[in-house]
Amino acid sequence: MLQRLRLVSGLVLLTFVATHLLNHSLGLVSLEAANAGRVWFVAFWRHPLGTTLLYGSWLTHFTLVLWALYQRRHLRIPRWEILRLTLGLLIPSLLLQHIFGTRVQHETWGVEDDYTRQVLFYWVLNPSVGVEQVALLSIVWLHGCLGLYYWLRVKRWRRWTLPGLRLVGPLVPILALLGFADMGQEIGALAADPLWIAQGAMAVSPEVAATIDRLKNGAYGLYVGSVLAVFGARRVRTILQQRKGVVCLDYPNGRQVLITPGTTVLEASRGAGIPHASLCGGRGRCSTCRTRVGAGSETLPEPSADEARVLRRLGTAPNVRLACQLRPTADLAVFPLLPPTSALPAGLFGPSAAAGTEQEIAVLFADLRAFTRFAEHRLPYDVVFVLNQYFTAMGGAIERTGGRVDKFIGDGIMALFGLESGSVQGCRDALAGALEMARALEQLNQTLRHELKEPLRMGIGIHAGQVIVGEMGHGRARALTAIGDAVNTASRLESLTKEYASQLVVSDEVASQAGVDLSSFPSYEIEIRGRVRPLSIRVIANARDLEPALAVLTRVPTTSGQLPSESQADRR
Ligand code: FES
Repeated sequence: MLQRLRLVSGLVLLTFVATHLLNHSLGLVSLEAANAGRVWFVAFWRHPLGTTLLYGSWLTHFTLVLWALYQRRHLRIPRWEILRLTLGLLIPSLLLQHIFGTRVQHETWGVEDDYTRQVLFYWVLNPSVGVEQVALLSIVWLHGCLGLYYWLRVKRWRRWTLPGLRLVGPLVPILALLGFADMGQEIGALAADPLWIAQGAMAVSPEVAATIDRLKNGAYGLYVGSVLAVFGARRVRTILQQRKGVVCLDYPNGRQVLITPGTTVLEASRGAGIPHASLCGGRGRCSTCRTRVGAGSETLPEPSADEARVLRRLGTAPNVRLACQLRPTADLAVFPLLPPTSALPAGLFGPSAAAGTEQEIAVLFADLRAFTRFAEHRLPYDVVFVLNQYFTAMGGAIERTGGRVDKFIGDGIMALFGLESGSVQGCRDALAGALEMARALEQLNQTLRHELKEPLRMGIGIHAGQVIVGEMGHGRARALTAIGDAVNTASRLESLTKEYASQLVVSDEVASQAGVDLSSFPSYEIEIRGRVRPLSIRVIANARDLEPALAVLTRVPTTSGQLPSESQADRR
């Protein structure tokens, strides 16, 4: 809830800043245009509703930042977080000048704070304060864009939003600065007349100016005091906790890290310089920091509601916890489960699959039936030959229907559908993929009929849902893959094909997203570990039986394996 509040309040503030800067950029047209645009700007942001929204968001955001600062046990955090935090803490100290020079003067003493007066003040009368305000503009914008970037980078809309952010990010402040400079030139020319400048400068009396200064200094004091109070409270907490003793964490490489109670395992790893995957930055959303707890697990505190929800979705063992949420109170042995290489992008706005995205896709698992028995009675060469024939046929079927082979595991296959086209098309493609795989298997059995005592049989499971897609692994074994609840469920559905003696088990979720009517196939409800409600599935004896149901989809390949309406290249 707090994270959401911080995000929403940050987005409101960023919207305010964006509209403010766009208003500045109207100065490129003329001073008059900027003043005309400002009428609309203040009509919204100085309306009681806009005012509540703006100042409520500012107060919320600032309080939550201080709270997050207090919550941290140390400040050994990734560089991007340090940059964002520093910029964020600089903002209020620079912003107060701006607020008192505009809104406070206007509301209290009725001073007209239009562009004519503001630009005269910042460009002609007090250029050093003007430079400060330019710095403020850059800092606020950079802070906001960083926040937006690190929020978007784990979202599936990253593909289309990040290029936009890359363009708009530098463009908006540049246009605003150019607009400000243009207005400065215009006002500079007017200010050549001493009478005009005297009228502009005398907008407030010296007494009022002195009162404003006093109020401003009071606000500065309040701000600095609240930040110092947070650091003071952190220090007091550390001293109190140190009195209670320290907790020792044992890592797999034999390293031991001493922490004060209340520190999270992720903070402990970061503090000790031990690489630890944390795609969402420790917000309890990505699960990549998950850690198995060995000795001492009996002392684990109960997971919070949020952590419990994520762990339930993963279906993990009770001794697996999220390192970013777990605050050990006694000595523990910890084993981070995912490779730490799931790291941040190399460049600030550079694309990186390593960063991972939350995405809704369809996941297909397939497995050869009784292949171990088959392999026991064949020469290794034969086994490899048959398996490669099978993988080639199935890989081709998956790719022809728009899927991506994620990996071959023994005689099993995992494939992802909808990585680029989205979940709805992914579900359609996955069903079409199952049909195409069944056709390909029939063809392969026909080709190998003299080699095989009995035809190859396979089981396929398909489910759709939210997963994290990203590059995972190490060295040359690093590849794009998906992790998450939907992956585990698809694998479970594939294993159910043995129980139901069928070729395909597909969740109702897939059928409904694909818009395909599978009501003619038997339906069951099954329990899946980690799911609150049972999962409805359809059991299909032979995936070829899907043909009539999928005939409504234009992208189902024909029996020749070609797509009727568009080529594979077009579809990609
Ligand atoms: S770092 Fe993402 S859940 Fe812990």
